[in-house]
Amino acid sequence: MHVHEIAHPLVKHKLGLLRQRSLSTRSFRQLTAEVASLLTYEATSDLLLEDYQVDTWMGPVPAQRIKGKKVTVVPILRAGIGMLDGVLELIPSAKVSVVGLYRNEETLEPVAYFEKLAHGLEERLALVIDPMLATGGSMVATIDMLKKAGCSQIRALVLVAAPEGIRRVHEAHPDVTLYTASVDKGLNEDGYIVPGLGDAGDKIFGTK
Ligand code: PRP
Ligand code: URA
Repeated sequence: MHVHEIAHPLVKHKLGLLRQRSLSTRSFRQLTAEVASLLTYEATSDLLLEDYQVDTWMGPVPAQRIKGKKVTVVPILRAGIGMLDGVLELIPSAKVSVVGLYRNEETLEPVAYFEKLAHGLEERLALVIDPMLATGGSMVATIDMLKKAGCSQIRALVLVAAPEGIRRVHEAHPDVTLYTASVDKGLNEDGYIVPGLGDAGDKIFGTK
């Protein structure tokens, strides 16, 4: 799996702010959306273009537009929803495919509870969004679902990734590309990313 750890100064700056111990729900949400936009910018930098003529005030002018069926964004419930607005800000016409998974806190294995995917996945690029790639179980299960539904172009966008999760996704799906603001040190005994962000879902939703 190819891993892009985005070194853009805005990404690094915002990630530092996200790691602050006492950050309001509002600020965590806002920064999550902003970093999601920046990751989207990077993850779409090689989309194919096609030529066309745009009708302008002075007649037809050559222009370019994104070729083929548009993207589907795949938020993993619940925390992935926190990145959705940031992605849609740049790709407002994207179809949204929602996947519901939570981690069993003892086994750390993902439990699926919802799946509503966009049509025409065979022709779409899927951008899977989830703030945290920890053991990688949730990401692998989501990619399994997408591939089963015919999707073959998949990119994962996460705020923070653990090396353990990267290895697991790589073993199961080496064709997937990962975009992240940081590859952190690793997981603690509870399966939390160190230093990570703590519980991203709770911080985005203001629960706990
Ligand atoms: C978190 C996070 C990922 C998953 C990552 O979700 O948002 O989906 O854990 O862990 P993994 O890589 O080990 O699978 P959580 O289960 O806390 O649910 P939530 O999004 O509903 O808060
Ligand atoms: N889920 C989170 O929200 N944080 C982690 O560090 C791991 C899983």
